[in-house]
Amino acid sequence: MKKIEAIIRPEKLEELKDALHTAQVAGITLSQVLGCGQQMGWTEHYRSNEVLINVLPKVEIKIVVDDDKVEDIVKIIIDTTRTGEVGDGKIFVSDIIDCIRIRTGDRGTAAL
Ligand SMILES: Nc1ncnc2c1ncn2[C@@H]1O[C@H](COP(=O)(O)OP(=O)(O)OP(=O)(O)O)[C@@H](O)[C@H]1O
Ligand SMILES: [Mg+2]
Repeated sequence: MKKIEAIIRPEKLEELKDALHTAQVAGITLSQVLGCGQQMGWTEHYRSNEVLINVLPKVEIKIVVDDDKVEDIVKIIIDTTRTGEVGDGKIFVSDIIDCIRIRTGDRGTAAL
């Protein structure tokens, strides 16, 4: 199992949710977050120079999937959220060692 964490532009969320629904992912977790990448937020939307680091609103989406689904999901995220401008976001993929469905006690991929 792998965890895919994507930080995206908030305005791309609806399109991404639709595509993930079509791809039949088992579940998603969403958070509204603040962040900056290598431009430190400046060149996306300049507001003031009173702070050292300018963080901008982003959406973080977390999905845990079977290994063989990872590339499909990564492609869906890129295809639905990419504008080509700085600030498009980032995708992190990491290993998940177990998953437990609390209701049933199912474990591993059966619990996804
Ligand atoms: N190395 C990182 N670690 C943690 N979060 C990150 C990292 N890089 C980017 N992020 C998160 O992703 C968001 C979008 O990053 P962003 O797309 O600006 O990355 P970038 O490396 O600056 O690429 P670009 O040059 O295309 O803008 C940031 O606001 C931050 O929340
Ligand atoms: Mg950036």
